[in-house]
Amino acid sequence: MSNKFYVTTPIYYVNDKPHIGSTYTTVIADVLARAHRLRGDKTLFLTGTDENSQKNLEAAQKAGFDNLPAYLDSMAEIWQTTWKTLGLTYDDFIRTTEKRHHQGVERFWRAVQKSGDIYKAEYERDYCVGCEAFKTAHELTDGRCPLHPNKDLEKVKEENYFFRASAYKDDLLKLYHEHPEFIEPKSRMNEIRSYVKEAFEDFSISRESGKLACGIPVPDDDSQRIYVWFDALLNYMTAVGYGTDDKLFKKWWPADVHLIGKDIIKFHCALWPAMIMSAAKSDPALLDETGAVLLPKSVHVNGFFTVDGQKISKSLGNAIDPLDLIQEYPFDVIRYFILREIPYGEDGDFSKTRLAERYNSDLANTLGNLVNRAVAMSRKYFNGRVPDVKPEDAKTALPDTEWGGAECLEILWQTVDRYLDASRADLALESIWSSNDCSLNSANRYVEQTKPFKLVKEEPQKAALVLYTLLEACRHFAWMISPMMPDIARKIILQLGQDPKKEEQKSAKDLRQWGGLAPDSELPEPAILFPRLTE
Ligand code: ME8
Ligand code: MG
Repeated sequence: MSNKFYVTTPIYYVNDKPHIGSTYTTVIADVLARAHRLRGDKTLFLTGTDENSQKNLEAAQKAGFDNLPAYLDSMAEIWQTTWKTLGLTYDDFIRTTEKRHHQGVERFWRAVQKSGDIYKAEYERDYCVGCEAFKTAHELTDGRCPLHPNKDLEKVKEENYFFRASAYKDDLLKLYHEHPEFIEPKSRMNEIRSYVKEAFEDFSISRESGKLACGIPVPDDDSQRIYVWFDALLNYMTAVGYGTDDKLFKKWWPADVHLIGKDIIKFHCALWPAMIMSAAKSDPALLDETGAVLLPKSVHVNGFFTVDGQKISKSLGNAIDPLDLIQEYPFDVIRYFILREIPYGEDGDFSKTRLAERYNSDLANTLGNLVNRAVAMSRKYFNGRVPDVKPEDAKTALPDTEWGGAECLEILWQTVDRYLDASRADLALESIWSSNDCSLNSANRYVEQTKPFKLVKEEPQKAALVLYTLLEACRHFAWMISPMMPDIARKIILQLGQDPKKEEQKSAKDLRQWGGLAPDSELPEPAILFPRLTE
């Protein structure tokens, strides 16, 4: 039986190109998508660009474009090319200027309207273009937006359409109560709950067309355009056919995981489910067979990166372009570093010094060393081949060693699955590297404790079992790390003399079974996985 898995990233504003922050969220989506594909799940990984935003317009003018669509095209191209160059395996890329999106937005607006949750009212407030959001007095510091202190707030006074969000307070609180897994990490739950209790109000969801040169027109009212967040959130539905392809929509919706950063948690955890609850009152496509509203299953929230301790900002010019980084390190090394260094959900620092430290200790000395020793010794002592033993006999370790054997590997697989289900790639990697009885560290200790290079002279049959165990363990480790480090995993599989493309076709069950490595098969010349860093 195969499950479906639908994962999304935020759609990014195109007022700038990708940097290490947006790369981080997108890499996590790539990890989850790869992990699910490996499990045999039907997987859809969606990313895209948020194009109906006032700040894109300002960026276009600054960049000297007098034609907004030309600017949007050129930027959307940069985002797509960057993700492709990095080898990120998105299945669909949505631009909110696409027709499929506009059609879905229109259908959704009409549904909310039919549910009686859209009304017109006069409005006066401070608007922060940086956030693309209205700010209440208590969200300001010295009358300025704390996130964008250099941007003047716009005073906005006009008649707009409002979404009756406040009507969904109780339903939202019920959702959080009944589905604690809706928000990950759980520590974010309190923040969102108190926001909904204390500050969740009706939302203005349109602006006067004259004051807003971009944005999707309000259905049946050309004088107003839809507020960018109300349209942006809908990308997650319009990309899978809402408003254009009912069958496709039924196949993929609801999303299993929305990955976001902590800056946009209120929009995703409060406004978004409230919008869907409202539309579902008039649109049966948003209900399941039992009549329950089809809400996204979970929102996973990452913390923010600083670079060498400083906030990433255009004015500081410290927004690292991932395309520059891959001139210095293979992207898998960067993936490993950003995933491993920062506990998911917390803020963290991108520092090249730390990256180099982890490269040397975790990658070169631990992973690289294990694979290299296992392959080199087998080649040397067993005629360039995998030792010819019965895999069954290599399931358990030699006595008085710290290797837990095949059973322990099975448990490690389950641990890795469980962590990845919560987007905790950091903990998945930590387990693979340092779990007590079964990890890269304990496999390296097994080498030290059994000394195959000595053993081979005294008891060659035992040395053969130890080396088979190590090679087969490397195969398991390679597939375990493959969602996080796909290229390195592929290289390890090649070093074990297998064809990664062919292996990938196997079912998850077969791939995870002990003995996948054929005894007496040929081992190619080993290559260094992690060459020494040049200064
Ligand atoms: O908010 N550290 O787009 P955006 C970690 N268009 N992650 C970071 C980061 C950092 N320093 N900086 C950015 C928008 N991110 C809207 C989204 S979705 C319907 C609409 C990541 O271009 C993080 O995921 O400002 C954050 O939530 C996202 O980029 C914001 O991207
Ligand atoms: Mg932003």
